Amino acid sequence: MGSGLGPGLLCFALFAMVSEGCNMFNGSWIVDESYPLYDSENCPFIRKEFDCVKYGRPDRKYLRYRWQPDGECVLPAFDGMEMMRLWRGKRILFVGDSLSLNMYNSMLCLLYAAAPYGRLRYVDNGVLFEDFNLTVSYYISHYLVDIVEEKIGRVLKLNSLQASKEWLSADLLIFNTWHWWPRAGPTQPWDYIQDGDLIVKDMDRTLAFSKALTTWANWVRTTIDPYDKKVFYQGVSPSHYHGSDWGKSFSKSCSGESEPLDGSKYRYQQSPQEAIVKKIIPRELVTLLDITFLSELRKDAHPSKYSGIRTRNDCSHWCLAGLPDTWNLLLYAFLIQ
Ligand SMILES: *[C@@H]1O[C@H](CO)[C@@H](O)[C@H](O)[C@H]1NC(C)=O
Ligand SMILES: *[C@@H]1O[C@H](CO)[C@@H](O)[C@H](O)[C@H]1NC(C)=O
Repeated sequence: MGSGLGPGLLCFALFAMVSEGCNMFNGSWIVDESYPLYDSENCPFIRKEFDCVKYGRPDRKYLRYRWQPDGECVLPAFDGMEMMRLWRGKRILFVGDSLSLNMYNSMLCLLYAAAPYGRLRYVDNGVLFEDFNLTVSYYISHYLVDIVEEKIGRVLKLNSLQASKEWLSADLLIFNTWHWWPRAGPTQPWDYIQDGDLIVKDMDRTLAFSKALTTWANWVRTTIDPYDKKVFYQGVSPSHYHGSDWGKSFSKSCSGESEPLDGSKYRYQQSPQEAIVKKIIPRELVTLLDITFLSELRKDAHPSKYSGIRTRNDCSHWCLAGLPDTWNLLLYAFLIQ
């Protein structure tokens, strides 16, 4: 797969080698007038939840930030044609909640921008880029582990991953789960949790998350041949509902925010969920896209009220074009390395 590297990419490879211990996930956001990487109006794949310009977001500066890793690390430009050549005849699958959907939509836009006149076909929850026989799709899974209808009700099974059968035809997999774990009340989509033989009405959600992630990690260990498939974990995407997280009053949300935080000054504290992800995912088989810190700086990049769902102030998903494009740039950087 490493064939066809252009001089720019080769240069990057040398750079990455000399800058030992290069951490792509530490850096800052700088204004780049060549951004955004595509015009959202020309991308037919953006869900209304993420289509901020269309739904009236008045400011544009949030579209112009490029992620600049610290030191000599270089984040290569996304070459959509190269990406499609590399994955010709393959399947790329995003598995997870709506943050996966966010990243999936971004990937479709990035590829489409590289070949807007290419032949396309909609397939089950995905798009086939026919000129390259490349399928990019999305599998919705809020918890990765299964929810099963039983006599007692809907059971969230921390040790069961039947759904994984559907993932095996993919060649490149990008997983994510966390945002649904704390959910309670009417939108909680299960009635009981099963852990081994034990069925309970509820349990510590972070503990449940870690058990489910362990089940997933064991599935990866027993199922994934690293010479056959590439697996990534998307990391924990942060929300911005409480201004106290960035030095404003608690009641302030992302609404009206138009600039990122300064990465060099921000006092970053890792959440327990991130620590769990870092501990549990099998690093020899799975690359962690450690996007939490760089995303945490982007209090300006959420839809807030500028989405197709007017009643909501959304400080959890991200506008497209926007931040998830950088997640895909990072994914691309690891793929061409
Ligand atoms: C970023 O790098 C600085 C300096 O090396 C370090 O102090 C800080 O902990 C790093 N932050 C993250 C999120 O890795
Ligand atoms: C397209 O790719 C799929 C795998 O995703 C493969 O099964 C199929 O044979 C390919 N079709 C052509 C025409 O190359």
